[in-house]
Amino acid sequence: MATYLVCGGAGYIGSHMCKRLHEAGHEVVVCDDLSTGHAGALLWGKHEFGSIEDANFLRTLFSKYAFDGVLHFAALSLVAESMRHPQRYYQHNVAATLNLLGVMREFEVKKFVFSSTAAVFGEPQSRLIAEDHPTAPMNPYGLSKLMVEQILRDSCRAYGIRAVSLRYFNAAGADPSGLIGEAHDPETHLIPKLVRKAAGEDIVVAINGTDYATEDGTCVRDYVHVNDLADAHLRALEHLDYAVGMHTFNLGSGRGYSVREVVDAVREVSGEPIDIPTTSRRPGDPSHLVASGKHAKAVLGWAPRYTAMGAIIETALNWHSSATFRAWMAEKEAVATAGARADQHSAQG
Ligand code: UFG
Repeated sequence: MATYLVCGGAGYIGSHMCKRLHEAGHEVVVCDDLSTGHAGALLWGKHEFGSIEDANFLRTLFSKYAFDGVLHFAALSLVAESMRHPQRYYQHNVAATLNLLGVMREFEVKKFVFSSTAAVFGEPQSRLIAEDHPTAPMNPYGLSKLMVEQILRDSCRAYGIRAVSLRYFNAAGADPSGLIGEAHDPETHLIPKLVRKAAGEDIVVAINGTDYATEDGTCVRDYVHVNDLADAHLRALEHLDYAVGMHTFNLGSGRGYSVREVVDAVREVSGEPIDIPTTSRRPGDPSHLVASGKHAKAVLGWAPRYTAMGAIIETALNWHSSATFRAWMAEKEAVATAGARADQHSAQG
């Protein structure tokens, strides 16, 4: 049994990780300021409220617990937002991670698993993207993640840290228990938007672009179930028990689905004939992003267990139709409204 710090453990992928670590018999400490995460997701381990931007908070945390390693999910992750607010992205995703790594060094914590992304690649030059594919991010979000990968490479060499960077392709689905899942506001991702529409929510969703150089003209993505991602992290931690240096893995299934195929699959699983119009391309969208899962399979022994799109969608539909999902969203809205009222009050006073 080990004790792991999960930064961003109240978020979508972080909360699934906490459940997985707990099931594997580990102690979990979540550090999360609930800026985007949900209090309702804090079901496993202890919660320490605070931000990784605050080095003194981190020092208190590292003094209180003897961590065997850190899993870092706390980041901003919207491509379009990163184009509008690049400094915010470099601050949260790069500067704050440097803070965390600095405190890890002070306390001699050596194991680090980092949430990276397929956005480090930009427009791909091959059908399947392997780890050595050239990196050319098309937005500050992808670049912020690539910068941290470089910082990790240098830190491993200089300070003896052991790190794994996991480049997620498209995370999707929810834990079948219905206890946790994706709950973003605003929601920008394809599967949750479609599923929420199928569950009867009044949500605007259209197919972004039908003139890509793909089989049916819509973008192709490699969707990976969030519990398969959690499983890869657990394997990464085990790998770091003996592997030194920095290791990078692309996490995907090797099978791409077009936007149209995903729409059809949601119609089929939900039984709802949702009407989805088409619109123009979304800026910054590569046409085709599909991982070669070979390296993760060879080194970590990892392959996704959710191989059918229908099975991924079923778990998402189960979550997005639940009372728990609606309660989380209502709570976030109440907090936002109270914050806006307080702002108005102080502006008047
Ligand atoms: N899409 C639509 N309509 C929508 C929402 C999405 O057609 O209402 C399309 C997108 O244009 C894209 C595909 O569905 O072609 C998937 O879009 P998502 O927003 O679900 O996911 P992305 O592929 O944009 O995002 C993923 C990761 C990011 C990463 C990005 C890199 O979630 O972390 O790939 O391009 F940065």
